[in-house]
Amino acid sequence: MYTDTMIGTQTMADLIATAHIVEDEEGSPVLSLSRIPEGFSWLGSGSERHAFLGPDGVVYKRTLCEPGAKYSNSREHTNFLTKAHTLPVGVRFAACELYFSGDVDVLAMEWVDGVGEENEETYPEETFYALIQQGWTDIHEYNVGMDGDTLVMIDYAR
Ligand SMILES: Nc1ncnc2c1ncn2[C@@H]1O[C@H](COP(=O)(O)OP(=O)(O)OP(=O)(O)O)[C@@H](O)[C@H]1O
Ligand SMILES: [Mg+2]
Repeated sequence: MYTDTMIGTQTMADLIATAHIVEDEEGSPVLSLSRIPEGFSWLGSGSERHAFLGPDGVVYKRTLCEPGAKYSNSREHTNFLTKAHTLPVGVRFAACELYFSGDVDVLAMEWVDGVGEENEETYPEETFYALIQQGWTDIHEYNVGMDGDTLVMIDYAR
């Protein structure tokens, strides 16, 4: 549900920004799921980011993309700000907020129910095609959830 209150806090964003980076065999930074800050739980991972549920009930997303890069959290937040009003009827973005922890961008997002479930039954085919036509080609079931009859996008990369 859209709300006027802030989504997430700087304190939680700081925790998730720094707590789970380790180095791989070549010394490159990787996100480690074995070092999740206390009170957080792992929700899921995509090709670019890990999503954690914070103790405040808010989703925090961490990626190794540089802020501003195509799949960065800050680019997704820009899409949120500029494209929310263009979505087809029956579709909305999950509410979100961008935080910076030093030069790491963290996306805090409303938790959405039903992510990863088959949604074809619950939203009309026209909605799906309208989204594709608008350029939202990455709307598989792990990138959307439902809020009543409304399709809620939790991944605004494009
Ligand atoms: N707001 C949310 N509510 C519930 N679960 C979420 C939410 N955001 C992310 N998740 C979980 O975390 C996973 C990864 O998040 P997200 O889709 O943002 O990552 P990604 O790397 O951008 O994905 P992709 O591979 O589609 O580009 C999701 O598929 C979902 O399982
Ligand atoms: Mg995704």
